[in-house]
Amino acid sequence: MLNIAVCVSGGGTNLQAILDGIEQGEITNTRVAAVISNNPGAYALERAENHGIEGVCISPKQFPDRESFNRAFLEKLDSYQVDLVVLAGFLVVLPESMIQKYRNRIINIHPSLIPSFCGTGYYGLKVHEGALARGVKVTGATVHFVDEGTDTGPIILQQPVMVEQEDTPETLQRRVMEQAEWKILPRAIDLIARGKVRVEDGKVVILEQPKRRKL
Ligand code: GAR
Repeated sequence: MLNIAVCVSGGGTNLQAILDGIEQGEITNTRVAAVISNNPGAYALERAENHGIEGVCISPKQFPDRESFNRAFLEKLDSYQVDLVVLAGFLVVLPESMIQKYRNRIINIHPSLIPSFCGTGYYGLKVHEGALARGVKVTGATVHFVDEGTDTGPIILQQPVMVEQEDTPETLQRRVMEQAEWKILPRAIDLIARGKVRVEDGKVVILEQPKRRKL
């Protein structure tokens, strides 16, 4: 059984996709041990509660300095003894000690096709504003392992989404969620739970043939 913690900051629609995926059997052999938020008002905490999952809030604002927050955050996370940490819209920079300790055991969902529209300053709606400002015709989402850089870790899955002429950042964000994020994040967790994801030379190898679509 893959024991996971999901870290969130906001609405938690990706968390919801994970909870639904587990309930509907699309994610196998997986259990959410805890949902951790840095934001006490995050609706994601309510989603966790609705599913009988422990939701905890731990915010840098509760601590005198970043160092003590980092220590407390890692201690809290360690207490759940998870196999995988899922960043589902978590807008806090992770302590380096955590990245080292959980090497290739932290994944993140990012709402663009990395390496486009990623890195410092690209989060949430800003990613879609950037895509529309550049006039790209295709965007999408990426699930990747987290390393010391910002959005630089090994890519696990990507899903493209077409940009439409009349898109606003909000409509594009919604379509990227529906057509990409809520699909590839549960799929990546299921692949990891089934032992189908390996990192070799800094790249991900998926040990399973993708399902072929009929032409
Ligand atoms: C999602 O679009 C996720 O990809 C993005 O924040 C949103 C959270 O929504 N994450 C980032 O931009 C990380 N760089 P949610 O709370 O409804 O899942």
